[in-house]
Amino acid sequence: MKIYNKSCYDLTEIADESIDALITDPPYGISFKGHYWDKDLPNPRIWSDCLRVLKPGAFGLVFSSIRLQHRLTVHLEDAGFAIKDVLMWGFLNGMPKSRDVGLEIDKALGVKSDKIGEYKYVQGYKKEAVGDYYASESKSIQAPSSELGKKYKGFGNGIKPAYEPIVLIQKPLTDRVAQNIIEFGVGGLNLEETRLPYGQDDGKVGHNPHPAGRVMANMLRIEEFGDGYDKYFLVPKVRQSKDDFNHHPTLKPVHLMHQLVKLLTLKGQIVLDPFMGSGSTGVAALTCQRDFVGYELEKEYFEVAQRRLNESGKRPLQLLEP
Ligand SMILES: C[S@@+](CC[C@H](N)C(=O)[O-])C[C@H]1O[C@@H](n2cnc3c(N)ncnc32)[C@H](O)[C@@H]1O
Repeated sequence: MKIYNKSCYDLTEIADESIDALITDPPYGISFKGHYWDKDLPNPRIWSDCLRVLKPGAFGLVFSSIRLQHRLTVHLEDAGFAIKDVLMWGFLNGMPKSRDVGLEIDKALGVKSDKIGEYKYVQGYKKEAVGDYYASESKSIQAPSSELGKKYKGFGNGIKPAYEPIVLIQKPLTDRVAQNIIEFGVGGLNLEETRLPYGQDDGKVGHNPHPAGRVMANMLRIEEFGDGYDKYFLVPKVRQSKDDFNHHPTLKPVHLMHQLVKLLTLKGQIVLDPFMGSGSTGVAALTCQRDFVGYELEKEYFEVAQRRLNESGKRPLQLLEP
């Protein structure tokens, strides 16, 4: 394992064609919670750097916001990657960020909205401690009072987010897939290790059911739709916990990262994350017995990643099943 507290651009420490897979969650370019490092998408030249260090035929998975997925995808394609698929990570527990349009209209018209009640608000992860250290806040429930505000009561300006796209890319093969694997050891997807076990009530499993379960789909959702066909892989978003030393605001669930690491690699292969944040890709890589190279610009996140990676290195390596 090698991790660097510096900017990833140029990937100077990494030799050409030496990395087996790229798995990264780069800045989304949406200024998430005002974080300056999320202000823009990465400079597209990082994707050319990634192309250089990946072995021919190696795959990559790049997380994206929904809003700028198109732009990121063009950057990846312009760098020379083939766009193979877009996985949909369903978490279902995203926070709606919509504004109350009726109340906004009141404000714009200079009209005071009506107060129609109150509720107690406590930040999610502080709930258990209410009455102890953290106090709940009283917030008022308001209704529009202007005529136009009333007309648009209940309108919003966005839908609750329930998934994030993950773009599946591949560095072009030098030859047919078999020849590429013979030469470089990469070029295929590890469908065997990412199978999802059948559920107890899984009645309809096909003519020749695989003993390890169903093949992973590009919609990462674990609950079944009851249609009897596919089983998906769902992992809720990680909520910050008051006791956790990891305060990274866009922490990805290690459980999800395990599945992605296993899809792109075999044991012993090297995963690169140029935007590792608190190191979730690396933790998953190490616990799945892969090797890891990561970069993180911010010292505070780098130190969290270092601690997490050291701890996962010390723990007896175990493969976590989905
Ligand atoms: C979306 S976060 C990754 C979070 C990570 N998936 C986790 O679970 O903790 C992206 C990270 O990229 C870092 N970053 C931004 N620009 C960078 C650069 N040029 N080189 C290295 N890291 C950078 C940011 O500081 C941020 O921590």
